[in-house]
Amino acid sequence: MSTQHPAREFAFDIGPVRVAPATALAPMEGITDKGFRALIRGMGGCGLTVTEFVSSDLMSRNVASAWRLAELPEDEHPVSIQIYGRDPEKMAQAAEYCEQLGADVVDLNLGCPSKAVTSGCSGSALMKEPELARRMFAAVKAAVSIPMTVKMRLGWDTDRLNAPEIAWMAQEEGADMVVVHGRTRMQMYRGSADWAAVRATKARLRIPVQVNGDILTVDDAVAALAASGADGVMVGRGAMRDPWILRKIADHFAGRVPYEPPLMDRRDTLLKYFGMLEAEAQTDRRAVGRMKKVTGYFTRGLPYGTELRETIYHSFTPEAIRDAVHGYFERLQAEGVADGFTRIHEAEVTDHTSGDSRNLTREAECCVQ
Ligand SMILES: Cc1cc2nc3c(=O)[nH]c(=O)nc-3n(C[C@H](O)[C@H](O)[C@H](O)COP(=O)(O)O)c2cc1C
Repeated sequence: MSTQHPAREFAFDIGPVRVAPATALAPMEGITDKGFRALIRGMGGCGLTVTEFVSSDLMSRNVASAWRLAELPEDEHPVSIQIYGRDPEKMAQAAEYCEQLGADVVDLNLGCPSKAVTSGCSGSALMKEPELARRMFAAVKAAVSIPMTVKMRLGWDTDRLNAPEIAWMAQEEGADMVVVHGRTRMQMYRGSADWAAVRATKARLRIPVQVNGDILTVDDAVAALAASGADGVMVGRGAMRDPWILRKIADHFAGRVPYEPPLMDRRDTLLKYFGMLEAEAQTDRRAVGRMKKVTGYFTRGLPYGTELRETIYHSFTPEAIRDAVHGYFERLQAEGVADGFTRIHEAEVTDHTSGDSRNLTREAECCVQ
């Protein structure tokens, strides 16, 4: 269990943009849409949100779906739009659009291992082309007045752990913060994130660094910060399992006991999110697909979670999924599992027996990235 931490300022600056608390919701394609970001922000404790990655190429070709990903609600601040591509000019143009769309920060993706992205030689493949990456940093920086950040992995593989060099180069070209996911591109999502390996990047830089990868609990956040020396944490999949995780981390660093939501808050949160998904999805079919996916993440490792997932697998309307979720939570309440969630989550994440990054690999690999 986490121990109480003395209250201290847990914040950092991305240029003029204050990130307080020093927590961020990681960009996740197909997950961190406007609705999900609003949900996590609504929990409190989220210092920064980032959009799903947006193709600079599609933006420059005026493809509506790319623009939709970059839409920002007026009340979402500070928020970063993440862009990817390999043409410095298109990246610069896309960054300008991001500024016009109201982004507080523009983030460049150097971390995505997706074949769809790396075969176009962007994403983490850029870590193998430092000179191209440098030109991209310079072009983007020259195009915008908002801060620029870069998200990367430790390197391409264990022989090329060049995050410190790339991050230093980004800093010299004007980057205001970098995020390092403690895995190499070749690792994809296998093994565990190496938080200590992020320290070499932190040691090279004046600008802040956020550590990312496998942060699922308050204790993980404390350990990741201690091992890496980073200024803040970025959490992705952990927020899908436990939407309160950033709030809990922020509570801890503010010297408060981490918030523990009552059982029915968990149910209501899931149902509220369903509402957002339905409002955003153009068809019931699409809404159902997203509802199934989200419920899968949300109930991973929880009692009777497998049964629920099985039930909703055979559900084809939003109503049927809602009914299944209602029934599930009623059952948990009837059986008095109400307060066991944190214990269950922690038990699950300390079970390393599967050797697969604490049961998260499956989630990551069933997604595009
Ligand atoms: C479904 C999914 C989609 C992702 N999409 C993006 C993305 O669009 N841009 C990006 O930089 N990283 C993306 N990532 C990587 C995450 O931002 C994060 O670096 C990674 O999942 C490790 O952090 P975590 O263990 O906290 O999830 C994605 C990860 C997942 C699981």
